[in-house]
Amino acid sequence: MLVTGKELLLDAQKRGYAVGAFNVNNMEIVQAIIEAAEETNSPVILQASQGGIKYAGVEYIAALGKIAARNAKVPVALHLDHGTDFDQVMLCIRHGFTSVMIDGSRFPLDENIAYTKKVIEVAHAVGVSVEAELGKIGGTEDHITVDERDATFTDPDEALRFVNETNVDFLAIAVGTAHGVYKGEPKLDFDRIKTLRGILRVPLVLHGSSGVPEEALKKAISLGIAKINIDTDLRIAFADGVKNFIKENPDNIDPRKILGPAKSMMKEKIREKMHIFGSVNKA
Ligand code: G3H
Ligand code: ZN
Repeated sequence: MLVTGKELLLDAQKRGYAVGAFNVNNMEIVQAIIEAAEETNSPVILQASQGGIKYAGVEYIAALGKIAARNAKVPVALHLDHGTDFDQVMLCIRHGFTSVMIDGSRFPLDENIAYTKKVIEVAHAVGVSVEAELGKIGGTEDHITVDERDATFTDPDEALRFVNETNVDFLAIAVGTAHGVYKGEPKLDFDRIKTLRGILRVPLVLHGSSGVPEEALKKAISLGIAKINIDTDLRIAFADGVKNFIKENPDNIDPRKILGPAKSMMKEKIREKMHIFGSVNKA
């Protein structure tokens, strides 16, 4: 069933687990996520980035997500990931997204607050949840790149002011993760997660979670992370599936056969993450 992001994350916050938010770009990825969620009885978030929407078109992505969610035996939210533009957020809401992210992290605090408030006023009026970001998460997520030197951790005082003034539903925090493939092992600032959890009432979101070791993810969840974003790990599984199949079957020209192993490998990766996140049997 199709639900809002807020509904999923408030339950996760209450019961101490995290909902996986996986990036979707095509039908096979959507199917892999939904099948993994149904097999593990996990709530899940399908999220589309600007790149995903540009690639597939908002109508296709929204239609795929809505059909998948409505037919699913588990609760599913359809979320815009890293929305940076007011008009695009409105377009996603109009196409039936139940949750949107407005990423104003490139702005100074006052402007980020004002921009986020503008989106929230409209989104809340039609029952759509809103995620915002405070601090700057390094690395590249599709078209958005933040140089590691410009990445800044979330300041607790600013976060408290941000949440109180915007009435945001959940907040992405910068605590040491980065988008894309890590060069070394990421070092998470667990004390900062604990501090933020202690002063903020809203669910907290961890971006750039691919490649973060299992123990670090579990610790972050135990300290209060309720939504975990995964993109790169799915891309790796998808590409490995396609490459292996073509290597072993160089003469096969059937797209269904070529994409089948990619879907299976993504599904396996998603199931693995759902066990780590503690979302299994929480639907
Ligand atoms: O918003 C999407 C995520 O933060 C994905 O990050 O590609 O490092 O898993 P990732
Ligand atoms: Zn992200």
